[in-house]
Amino acid sequence: MDKYPNEYSRAKDTHAPRWRRRMEDIDSQVATIRLPDVDGEAPDQDREYCELVTLDGQTKTVRFHDYDEVYKIPGFYEGLFYEMLQCCSPSRVANLLDDVLEDFEDNPEELRVLDVGAGNGIVGDEFLARGAEKIIGVDIIPEARQAADRDRPDVYDDYIVTDLTDLPERHEENLREQNLNCLTTVAALGYGDIPPKAFLKALDLLVTPGWLAFNIKETFLDAGSDGTGFSDLVKHLNRDGVIQIQSYRRYCHRINVAGEPLHYVAVVARKLKDVPDELMEFWSHRDGEA
Ligand SMILES: C[S@@+](CC[C@H](N)C(=O)[O-])C[C@H]1O[C@@H](n2cnc3c(N)ncnc32)[C@H](O)[C@@H]1O
Repeated sequence: MDKYPNEYSRAKDTHAPRWRRRMEDIDSQVATIRLPDVDGEAPDQDREYCELVTLDGQTKTVRFHDYDEVYKIPGFYEGLFYEMLQCCSPSRVANLLDDVLEDFEDNPEELRVLDVGAGNGIVGDEFLARGAEKIIGVDIIPEARQAADRDRPDVYDDYIVTDLTDLPERHEENLREQNLNCLTTVAALGYGDIPPKAFLKALDLLVTPGWLAFNIKETFLDAGSDGTGFSDLVKHLNRDGVIQIQSYRRYCHRINVAGEPLHYVAVVARKLKDVPDELMEFWSHRDGEA
């Protein structure tokens, strides 16, 4: 199949979010999404929920982070996070990578992308718009792959449902054979989602040199308030010369149920060295703070 049909002209798409256009092709089953009245006191992101009414008249309460429930309803993920809560991270992260690639005179069409925490494919779609050579999705839940197949069947060359903290050998061999040179992970680090160990494994699967483009809640990179371990991991990777940060941008990832901004940072880094065995070993025994 032609991955780059004329209507998806790269020139037009590079700086515009793709999810809006995709919504025209998604048979949304969402009638209404109602946010709770939290009286200005938003719960932590991990406890946010909403009420969903589907077109067939069913009503249910869904916790935002119960992604298996969210992905099952076509149009719900986009309607909630992108439409109502104004998430902009996939295009933000991809645009930041564009800028850095331009400085390096690197061609986005030569990217072989590993999209970790791929969900229903919104991030992969940004890379498709840029003409990436290959895009492989990884997610821990089968509902994510099912939703990607349903909503964006043209995005991924392969989509693996697996746990990167315990990657089966057959998946590891397959992923290494793809010579992946770009790791992206958006809205998926911390909060009981992708732990540092899985992120490091994904980085290890890339060839060297390679690119890293991700976002993370700003407090998770702040040594003083990080309980996830990511602040230490990124520091460790930098100090050991495994990665070199090229761009770091603070921005509003989305608003919360009280309408307040949730600040994240988008990071673009270069992988300069293979991940040393000692580093893999050290992080294989650590999930959070030391
Ligand atoms: C908020 S969604 C982000 C989806 C997509 N990246 C986006 O920006 O639209 C987080 C995704 O991370 C996935 N996830 C959570 N823990 C994971 C893990 N340990 N390994 C891989 N994926 C994971 C979830 O299943 C979910 O699909």
